[in-house]
Amino acid sequence: MSELNKIALKILSNDKGILAADESNGTMTKRLESVNIQSTPENRLLFRETLFTANSMKNCIGGVILYDETINQISNEGKTIPSIISDTGAVPGIKVDTGAKVLANSLDEKVTEGLDGLRERLKKYYELGARFTKWRGVYNIEEKRPSKLAIISNAHALARYSALVQESGMVPIVEPEVLMDGEHSAEDCLTKTSEVIQKCFEELIVHKIDLTGIILKPNMILAGNKSKNKISNEEVSFKTLECLKKSVPNEVPGIAFLSGGQSEIEATENLNLINKNNDTNFIMTYSYGRALQQSALKFWSKDIKDIKGTQNIFNHRAKMNTLAAQGKWSSELENK
Ligand code: 13P
Repeated sequence: MSELNKIALKILSNDKGILAADESNGTMTKRLESVNIQSTPENRLLFRETLFTANSMKNCIGGVILYDETINQISNEGKTIPSIISDTGAVPGIKVDTGAKVLANSLDEKVTEGLDGLRERLKKYYELGARFTKWRGVYNIEEKRPSKLAIISNAHALARYSALVQESGMVPIVEPEVLMDGEHSAEDCLTKTSEVIQKCFEELIVHKIDLTGIILKPNMILAGNKSKNKISNEEVSFKTLECLKKSVPNEVPGIAFLSGGQSEIEATENLNLINKNNDTNFIMTYSYGRALQQSALKFWSKDIKDIKGTQNIFNHRAKMNTLAAQGKWSSELENK
């Protein structure tokens, strides 16, 4: 077993999932202002530290993705953030892309940047305690979209990123996110997502990536949020499994879904059904941002000193998703 494979399994095993707390300052400011909290470095740290010191970290969370600001912050008790995370048994990770920028020659699409100077940045993050990383490519579904250009350029960037990350001794999360925005059908989402993921693996293989030392972070297969033809959660699970079975090489140890704008319950229920129906060898778990934090953030915003109350809300969500990672969740458990 390679060292990279060991790290990936440490993050994903025992039905644990990933807490995606890597919102950039811009995104975090939107999240905080939506609940009338001022977005200061202190408030961003306080909310995140509240989550990182919650009880559920030990049994539910195998990895935490941080943002550059957070990995460099010192906790209110004088500890580094990666050490707080490691102390719970979870692995600290870091988002290393520098965002999706307008793609030349296809101006309504985006390509994710951040390769320049990446080798040096990775060295610094490793020294700070990170053992895995994240890079997100983003694609829209529309007529003739995503274009071949967007699919190829993002896959290429994801592969070059993965090579540098593995060279530095860390596990790359490969995240090609086909957005749920739009009127498209679930069938369109299935076709386009499969094409996107297959191209990513084609490039990863060209770039000699050790596939046992990556984690794939895809979207689930859903109808667009403005589509009139929604499909059932059961169908979401079958279509998602169909997509992954035909697109992901067997060596990949695990798949950790993003929530992508689904409600907390929807994201849990879909993951649960995916695991109930999972006839693959892949670990299927969560790497949620909004679907793990939304309720906790709302509660916290009413009284930012109520650490215990906020942690209780987060603990419940983490527990529900860890049950879903085993196919053992049910809606009755939500109210217990
Ligand atoms: P969401 O679960 O809120 O989609 O965030 C996951 C993530 O890390 C997006 O890059």
